[in-house]
Amino acid sequence: APDARPSRTIALVGLMGVGKSTVGRRLAQRLDLPFIDGDEAIESAARMTVSDIFSQLGEAEFRAGEARVMRRLLDGPPIVLATGGGAVLNPGTRALMRERATTVWLRADLAIVASRVQRRDTRPLLRGKDPLQALSAMAEVRYPIYAETADLTVDVGAGAHAQAVDAIVTAL
Ligand code: S3P
Repeated sequence: APDARPSRTIALVGLMGVGKSTVGRRLAQRLDLPFIDGDEAIESAARMTVSDIFSQLGEAEFRAGEARVMRRLLDGPPIVLATGGGAVLNPGTRALMRERATTVWLRADLAIVASRVQRRDTRPLLRGKDPLQALSAMAEVRYPIYAETADLTVDVGAGAHAQAVDAIVTAL
């Protein structure tokens, strides 16, 4: 039998490159909910790429736009939402996630995450940096925030997206 469609949004949080979009897309299919990638929603609202927003307007402007887009999505009907890795830095976004969503922290070994982000050059916060070092610094600041925001934590191994989807469905 198909899995019951949840009545709340499922928000995936976690570091860039951990697999939020891949897991989110599969989870949405499984639960028959629409999938929305937060970064893509920001790009269509701004009609600019995330990289261009960072380089032309700066991170503060990006964060403000991100918070507006998160509010609109979290205020809407249930979806599976892959949030940008820094979306939880905004206290209003965090509060709304707790109020409106089941929030899942996807976590993986930082070495795995670093090898994944190296395959793409679309991440302004990693540009010109050693990925493992940059991700470790981010993890130090963000892991406590992911932990306090999430209802559920799921570990994703290398190529273990299907298991992560199963773990989330089982826990819902
Ligand atoms: C960011 C993560 C990115 C994107 C932006 C900033 C972050 O999203 O929102 O580059 O601060 O961690 P992904 O987590 O989808 O890569």
